[in-house]
Amino acid sequence: MPRKFNHGLDYDDDDYGDEYDDYDYDYDIDSDAEDNGNLPKPNQETDSSSIWRCSICTYDNDQSMTTCDICGVLRNPLPLSGISNGNDLKTASATVRKDNTSAPMSARFSNSSSLMMSKGSNVTGNENNQLKDEEHNLRSSAKSPGTLSSYHEGGVEHTLPMDEIKPPILARSLDSVSINDRGGTGKAASWGQYKPEKWMLPESEDGLLNQLNLAIVGHVDSGKSTLSGRLLHLLGRISQKEMHKHEKEAKLQGKGSFAYAWALDESPEERERGITMTVAVAYFDTKRYRVVVLDSPGHKDFVPNMISGATQADAALLVIDASIGSFEAGMDGSKGQTKEHAQLIRSFGVDQLIVAVNKMDVVEYSNDRFNLIKRQLGTFLRSSGFRDSSVLWIPLSAMENQNLVTAPSDVRLLSWYKGPYLLDAIDSLHPPTRDVLKPLVMPICDVIKSPTMNQVSACGKLEGGALRSGVKVLVMPSGDVGTVRSLERDSRPCAIARSGDNVAVVLQGIDTSKVIAGGVLCHPNFPISIAKHLELKVLILDGASPILIGSQLEFHIHHAKEAARVEKMVSLLDPKTGKVMKKAPRCLLAKQSAVIEVVLQGPVCAEEFSSCKALGRVSLRALGRTIAVGIVTRVIEKEP
Ligand code: GTP
Ligand code: MG
Repeated sequence: MPRKFNHGLDYDDDDYGDEYDDYDYDYDIDSDAEDNGNLPKPNQETDSSSIWRCSICTYDNDQSMTTCDICGVLRNPLPLSGISNGNDLKTASATVRKDNTSAPMSARFSNSSSLMMSKGSNVTGNENNQLKDEEHNLRSSAKSPGTLSSYHEGGVEHTLPMDEIKPPILARSLDSVSINDRGGTGKAASWGQYKPEKWMLPESEDGLLNQLNLAIVGHVDSGKSTLSGRLLHLLGRISQKEMHKHEKEAKLQGKGSFAYAWALDESPEERERGITMTVAVAYFDTKRYRVVVLDSPGHKDFVPNMISGATQADAALLVIDASIGSFEAGMDGSKGQTKEHAQLIRSFGVDQLIVAVNKMDVVEYSNDRFNLIKRQLGTFLRSSGFRDSSVLWIPLSAMENQNLVTAPSDVRLLSWYKGPYLLDAIDSLHPPTRDVLKPLVMPICDVIKSPTMNQVSACGKLEGGALRSGVKVLVMPSGDVGTVRSLERDSRPCAIARSGDNVAVVLQGIDTSKVIAGGVLCHPNFPISIAKHLELKVLILDGASPILIGSQLEFHIHHAKEAARVEKMVSLLDPKTGKVMKKAPRCLLAKQSAVIEVVLQGPVCAEEFSSCKALGRVSLRALGRTIAVGIVTRVIEKEP
């Protein structure tokens, strides 16, 4: 049934030190305007006469520039001596880069403008219009009503996903890659040359449900696996016979209450310990989605595994144990995982969250308890960059099957809860936008080998491009080329996998030892970079111990993990504006934002966040806790 993948265990037992305080991020920027559906001005002038600051990416541009040198957003208002705010803007907009299709991915990291442009990759007006048309069609095929918003400026139509208009502050802080991302690999420009073949583009009437990768996260024992197992059973993905078997076996081991969890916790060790250790991947269908369930471990020792699963998420289900003392334990900064999971999920670009307040049976379906949890956790989520409008709160009981796939039957819950049940809430999520116009990128989360057939399968989620049998792929970091023999989705063959799909890719013609978890499948003509020396923009999380030059860290990027050393402290940034406050700081403290250089023990597949979000998001851990989240701003030295 479910497929398990393992990112490598982390048995650090150290406590987490200080408690996380709520972030003191402001929520000021145009939040009212957004709520009222008003669009922000793309750019604003700064006070300085020689520069103007882009309000999308905060880069300080020279006065001579009419578009932001970094993100390409049109300057507004335009300088008097420059082009006027009329039709001439069309000329300016002709600098939109071909690969401004990074926009679909930016929906996941909601603070990037879909007007993203790049320097040095100018295309002609005609090409640009064609590209815009293509992109527009693709995006509109994926959008849901109200997801996108357009505005006209100088005769140019700009389309902004609503959730990208006003970036939440944690994400915005990470995403203002304006300061030090010059002199990069130029990958964005070279990827701009890529032209997808016709079969790679989704056909609007192909009848397939949108895939939604849903990470199930939360503190240990909150009921994530039980809830996942229950849903799979209720939706017919686990037969009655299988369920009886789990019940019988769980009872025999004196763990009867874990019967549903056992549908996902398959290994003897997981069952013995009564905890999830590796991410289980399972599937169910709703009316709108083919949901890929990524059931994560909650125990703090297995956060690296949780990270590996959660990097694939389009949306997340944060499971809370409502019982007295348990919610509080999850929120505890030193031992609880609720806050850490929520922050990690947000740093991976996930901005749609369902909070499942589970075990409501234990608290007699109390409205007061639900409200207290909503109030306390809500404050933290808001401070971590989740918008109230993107968070859904569902009281439920996985054990008593209340409010999962139908409206609740318990009168205590019915008396005060009038909202959607869980399945409806999942269906109400916005469809994720996909990078179908970019070349293939598939980070490998798991490898299945069958030596007898000399066959190897790479499992993971396509973050760009498409695959079908017969296609050649470059397997990184080895650089070997293999051929796709077949594709499987949910253990069933499938003809084509496109960006967003979570699949197993059966490869042939390649040494099986060259395909490794943490590697990446990519297009042979568009290889991704391999590097040991990276520049990062990071946000130090609350409660983290100080970071100094020489600090030894655990570096996480997509499904890869490497030991890392802080090589250089480039600058300390204003977390709100992204502007350099101090060059070469000696020490970084909690809540600070900075640009640093790290040198890894071994090479990893990495790209600048501005060209590939999936390969450009990082998290740094030390002593068993996540101390910083960030993005790659520069690949300093590429491996040959
Ligand atoms: P980890 O993966 O190890 O973090 O745990 P988990 O979050 O997956 O929790 P799991 O599903 O393993 O459940 C832990 C315990 O909580 C089990 O004993 C479940 O029976 C119990 N449990 C789960 N949901 C409910 C619920 O709705 N009500 C009650 N009373 N118990 C529940
Ligand atoms: Mg579990």
